[in-house]
Amino acid sequence: GPLRVLVFGAAMRAGSVNARLASLVARLVADTGATVDLASMRDFVMPLYDGDAEDAEGLPSGALALRDRIERCEAFVISSPEYNASVPGVLKNAIDWVSRVHPQPFKDKHALLVSASPSMVGGNRGLWALRVPLEHLGTRVYPDMFSLARAHQGFTEDGQLTDSGLQQRLAETVEAFLRLVEADMRYVCLERR
Ligand code: FNR
Repeated sequence: GPLRVLVFGAAMRAGSVNARLASLVARLVADTGATVDLASMRDFVMPLYDGDAEDAEGLPSGALALRDRIERCEAFVISSPEYNASVPGVLKNAIDWVSRVHPQPFKDKHALLVSASPSMVGGNRGLWALRVPLEHLGTRVYPDMFSLARAHQGFTEDGQLTDSGLQQRLAETVEAFLRLVEADMRYVCLERR
């Protein structure tokens, strides 16, 4: 069947520019014929990681819900803000909880990292930091990344990027990422025969 791709906006804010970027990426993914599951951090509210709570009650429902959504896809895209040049604590907390599941669902999944920020940097330093836990967990993080600077001015009314050159580059990055995922899926199928 078609590739299943989870596109995940990693901010809690309803008006998040990363949610807007996630929506745009979801459309670009759907344009390639893949099946998209669009999600937001708001769908996965969970307490701060606490080993005692885990021992007593296991994983919170928000973490289990995120685990389920990751398990159902071959690839995921995270659109994350950058906080203090690193990964937002809310996202790191979610990764930490979900990593406690066995088998943990990040292993061997393909991931594309994108970011949006009102700043001139576009949140790119946060994506470099986000690679560390994901690669540790065995996710194949795509080498290329996309960061939208001045994101508060970056979108048209209908959710496209105002800079058509950037829009083109984002579409090409998404397409190249999905071509790699598809090639890898074919390889895995051949190997299993
Ligand atoms: C920020 N912001 C920010 N931006 C950036 O480009 N580099 C940074 O290091 C930081 N640091 C930072 C720390 C904290 C605690 C907050 C709350 C914010 C700004 C941040 O990118 C901005 O709030 C974005 O709009 C967040 O993305 P959403 O919520 O619009 O998706």
